[in-house]
Amino acid sequence: MTKALIVANWKMAPSSFREAEDLFFAVKGGMGKNRKTDVVFCPPFVWLTDLARRHKKSTLFGAQDAFWEQSGAFTGEISPQMLKSSGVKFVIIGHSERRRFLGESDEMINKKVRAALKAGLAPIIAIGEESQDAEDVVPPVLREQLSRALHGINAGELGKITVAYEPVWAIGTGRADTPDNATRRAIYIRKLLTKIAGAKRADGIRILYGGSVTSRNAASFLSQDIRGMDGLLVGGASLNAGEFVKIVDAVSTLRRV
Ligand code: PGA
Repeated sequence: MTKALIVANWKMAPSSFREAEDLFFAVKGGMGKNRKTDVVFCPPFVWLTDLARRHKKSTLFGAQDAFWEQSGAFTGEISPQMLKSSGVKFVIIGHSERRRFLGESDEMINKKVRAALKAGLAPIIAIGEESQDAEDVVPPVLREQLSRALHGINAGELGKITVAYEPVWAIGTGRADTPDNATRRAIYIRKLLTKIAGAKRADGIRILYGGSVTSRNAASFLSQDIRGMDGLLVGGASLNAGEFVKIVDAVSTLRRV
């Protein structure tokens, strides 16, 4: 069994370092010494490096994005190498908000995944369909986004990735996917990964569900009968310490296969 992983994606919040640190301490205090679940904090860059420098020994940190070059004339960008040297371990790549608002293409995402791996970061690759049209049919965009994101990456490095399935229609809407559908998607994604990376490596890759996760529905996305989702990518609810700690607790008490 792989260890469950919960990622707190703070997006563009909170607005001050004081609030960011308060939130961080409230979550850490609430979680206590939880060793059953890996929890990764992804604050905005401006708070991330300070928090990571101070707390990297006790906590896993991730960035919400990184550029595809390690240094150079790229105004406004942050390189994987910079993140790595700040104590950051993970990076979310290809979040639907970046695809939608910043025009990130599959090609850009592929370059970012490669650069992140090269710098020694663990990419969390976000994929997901735009609309809920046909819940029971697997949307082709999942295969396209995943295979393009992983294009040209050698099998040995694939073991370092995480895949986050985030149906765009479920993000920030309060309309989460159904647990059954999330499990079906996890099984489908693992089959794709098996084709690309081989069964052994695919088995070690964690697949997360994201989209309107709350403390009430968190546990339902991690199937206890068959291998489905291995964790969660949490947006809005990760900004409320009490709610986020309940999510971590709910997942940590599950008996997963
Ligand atoms: P949400 O966001 O939990 O607020 O729906 C999830 C995400 O975008 O990662």
